[in-house]
Amino acid sequence: MPHKPVVLVTRRLTDAVHARLRRDYQAILNLEDRVFSRDELVERCQSADAVLPCHSELFSAEVIAALPARLKVIANHSVGVDHVDLAAAKAKGIVVTNTPDVLSDATAEIAILCMLGAARRASEGDRMVREGRWDFWSPAFMVGVQTTGKRFGIVGMGRVGQVTAMRARGFGMTVHYHNRHRLAAELEQGAVFHETIEEMLPQCDVLSLHCPATPETAGLINTATLALLPDGAILVNTARGALVDEAALIDALKSGRLFAAGLDVFATEPGGNPALSALENVFQLPHVGSATRETRDAMGFRALDNIDAVFAGREPGDRVA
Ligand code: DGY
Repeated sequence: MPHKPVVLVTRRLTDAVHARLRRDYQAILNLEDRVFSRDELVERCQSADAVLPCHSELFSAEVIAALPARLKVIANHSVGVDHVDLAAAKAKGIVVTNTPDVLSDATAEIAILCMLGAARRASEGDRMVREGRWDFWSPAFMVGVQTTGKRFGIVGMGRVGQVTAMRARGFGMTVHYHNRHRLAAELEQGAVFHETIEEMLPQCDVLSLHCPATPETAGLINTATLALLPDGAILVNTARGALVDEAALIDALKSGRLFAAGLDVFATEPGGNPALSALENVFQLPHVGSATRETRDAMGFRALDNIDAVFAGREPGDRVA
């Protein structure tokens, strides 16, 4: 029996993914799901040929410099790879992969939940009932905004953006999008392309973010861009907290310029932003866009497909560096 490569798994994954890991590799699992410190991550990687991390583990240039020569691949259990210094990994000859496609449906569902939660004041209503404060009803009570027939703007028309567009069309919404490149007509499905985000924002009753966090997109939603949205618009972010200047968002929500925000991601995670939590017109979730049973299995298997390819001497399907 040839030597099985050692795979370090940084977080608890599903039973089915653990079973495949145990079958095919010498798996070092984290069944307690403890969060590793930077030093612990580096130390545990010393005996590994591959690491299977989540977005919760930061592979900075310093961490990558401290990885052993035997470590061949960082096979992320995430589509986002902003937690990995790709240039440093590439320079060290470490392959980096991600898990696209398999989480698009789950994340699109959460984007729609965030849109509806924000539009229909779901957090406020839920809190009121739960806390025993619901003692009144009238036609003027808890009135939100309807999304049916409105304009849905997407920044980043990749796989998640395209599925979210499909779901928004189910509400009779007109889809607008800004993307680095215009999509082919069969992928656009009638969505209106905008060369610049500035040109698109005035057309968005709901703006939903689906682009990666990069140095270019950091703080993309800020005082200036928020000012371009129509009065009473809704912001949805299921991508990365770094895309939004939270202080500017809070100002826009407090002033009523924005009707509400639906957020699954934050600048500080875990934890979120207490100033956002203090606002009734914010619907929030703790970064659970891809957290369904089906998708967790699929993400784990996809990461393992990438590891399998590296150790079989093949090009992994989802190589990002
Ligand atoms: C992703 O895949 O990037 C999600 O945010 C979960 O990590």
